Amino acid sequence: MDRIALGVDIGGSGIKGAPVDLALGSLTEERVRIDTPQPSTPDAVAEVVSEIVSSFSYEGPVGCTLPSVVQHGVVNTAANIDDGWIGLDGRELLERRLKVPVALLNDADAAGIAEVTYGAAKNVPGLVCLLTFGTGIGSALFVDGVLVPNSEFGHLEFKGMDAENYASARTRKAENLSWEEWGGRVAEYLRHLERIITPDLFIIGGGVSRKLDEFREFIEVATPVVPARLRNSAGIVGAALTAAAD
Ligand code: BGC
Repeated sequence: MDRIALGVDIGGSGIKGAPVDLALGSLTEERVRIDTPQPSTPDAVAEVVSEIVSSFSYEGPVGCTLPSVVQHGVVNTAANIDDGWIGLDGRELLERRLKVPVALLNDADAAGIAEVTYGAAKNVPGLVCLLTFGTGIGSALFVDGVLVPNSEFGHLEFKGMDAENYASARTRKAENLSWEEWGGRVAEYLRHLERIITPDLFIIGGGVSRKLDEFREFIEVATPVVPARLRNSAGIVGAALTAAAD
């Protein structure tokens, strides 16, 4: 495997990229961030990805994430990006634009791959479920370190709505919930997941993982809960790793 690969994390509000040292799982240079164009059409996003990639003196495969179900390069959903992505072969579009091999995968799956390789899920056997709490809820499911892609647990129906509308970090802010109130909602959601998949470990990712100490005491669940270790760079690192492994 090449020692360095480039990862780009495409989100609803920002697109961030950097080269990654694959031996260490860390960025080799300061990441570059550009606001996601609005509307976030495939061509407009591909243009920004190309700008980010060409800001580094890097040549080689590029890994990209999307907040979407991505099946063999084809984008099947678009929760926080333009609907124009749906049904599109996103990998092919990006390869045409960047003129290098591209790996395209779900953002939470990428974060999970980074945690399994370098972080909180390294060498953890059994069923591991990483959840990213942000604008939505992303999920990544691993069986003995092997990814089961596109689990999309944020869209399970819970309390008569999409689970992410009940317990995402966006909802905490939008409804002005205290840590206790929001932590209680996260616990209810995790207990629901426990009934469905009986995991061995939950990993809490997304920006809010930094604040786990604020709400850990309210997460009363049977499964051990730990914070993600790679924080902000997990998506970039997991994308780069996938590009290098393809
Ligand atoms: C999307 C997922 C994504 C998650 C986090 C959800 O709304 O459906 O694909 O992983 O948000 O960005």
